Amino acid sequence: MYARIISTGKYLPKKILTNSELEKIVDTSDEWILSRTGIESRHIAADDEFTSHLAEKAANIALKTAGLNSNDIDLVVVGTCTPDRMFPNVACLIQERMGIKGPAFSLEAACSGFVYALTVADQFICAGKAKRALVIGAETMSRLIDWTDRETCVLFGDGAGAVILEASEEPGLIFSDLGADGQHRKLLYTDTGLSNMRSSVDGDLKMKGNEVFKVAVRTLEQMVDKVLKDNQLEQGDIDWLVPHQANLRIISATAKRLGLPMERVVVTVNKHGNTSAASIPMALDTAVKDGRIKNGDLILLEAFGGGFTWGSCLLKF
Ligand code: ACO
Repeated sequence: MYARIISTGKYLPKKILTNSELEKIVDTSDEWILSRTGIESRHIAADDEFTSHLAEKAANIALKTAGLNSNDIDLVVVGTCTPDRMFPNVACLIQERMGIKGPAFSLEAACSGFVYALTVADQFICAGKAKRALVIGAETMSRLIDWTDRETCVLFGDGAGAVILEASEEPGLIFSDLGADGQHRKLLYTDTGLSNMRSSVDGDLKMKGNEVFKVAVRTLEQMVDKVLKDNQLEQGDIDWLVPHQANLRIISATAKRLGLPMERVVVTVNKHGNTSAASIPMALDTAVKDGRIKNGDLILLEAFGGGFTWGSCLLKF
């Protein structure tokens, strides 16, 4: 038994924040942002738009694209580190609004949230505990940003991406590998919590970008080597790399390790910035809808994020 992605969807908030607009907020420049990250603009949620609203819109598109209705879904898993509230979790909020039955939960693995969520949903399906899962990555990172900190506020954006994962006799998700290492927790973190009594979210994201960059590149290279080795693949065998969209330089380094030209890498970081758990499903949807990714293609999803957490999923589309 396999689990196959049968449809995708994404939703981006209407408001676009460009680099030149950021120049008016902090001491930065379009040239600096573009050359260091590849980012040109990002989308920002409206004040009354929460993570669950973005997630619900992406989910409805994925459902409609698959020609299904809410009765056909029996599991909802959401990757997010910016939930509307502590509980009900984002998956339950969506489940109620969409009229879906079955288990619904969110998990938090920062930028690796979608790869973690997809892997967990795959386990449910392969164990016969679900037939069709709605798997979502959704974030309102703008709510965590210190808009006076030029080192982080230029990097992030909001959005949501969703897939429908269905039980199948044909290969779909063929390999996944998750990892984590809490020892670098001080390089990328927030203080906001409940049991630590720190409830002020505004401006809470802190990152030593330069050091995160080095660990990210090293970890992703090791991850890619393991994907190739464990699946007896050669460099260049993968049709499409759909990476977490944090930084174009990190993406290029991973593509090089895979022996892939940039034409076979899906890049959306220029228009979306780093949308954490939402970035991979949104990039996947972009390349599926514009016709680049086709049925039967071999695709590698890979992510690295706060925790640190990381993960890869190899799948036949
Ligand atoms: N505009 C202008 N100058 C800036 C800006 C800015 N927005 N931000 C920093 N600078 C300055 C710095 O102050 C520094 O100046 P100095 O040399 O006078 O001290 C200089 O630019 C270089 O700063 P670095 O931090 O060394 O720049 P770097 O080339 O490393 O790029 C970046 C920074 C883009 C953050 C990069 O390190 C990066 O992408 N890191 C990884 C991010 C990531 O992958 N995060 C993981 C996922 S996030 C999650 O899980 C939620």
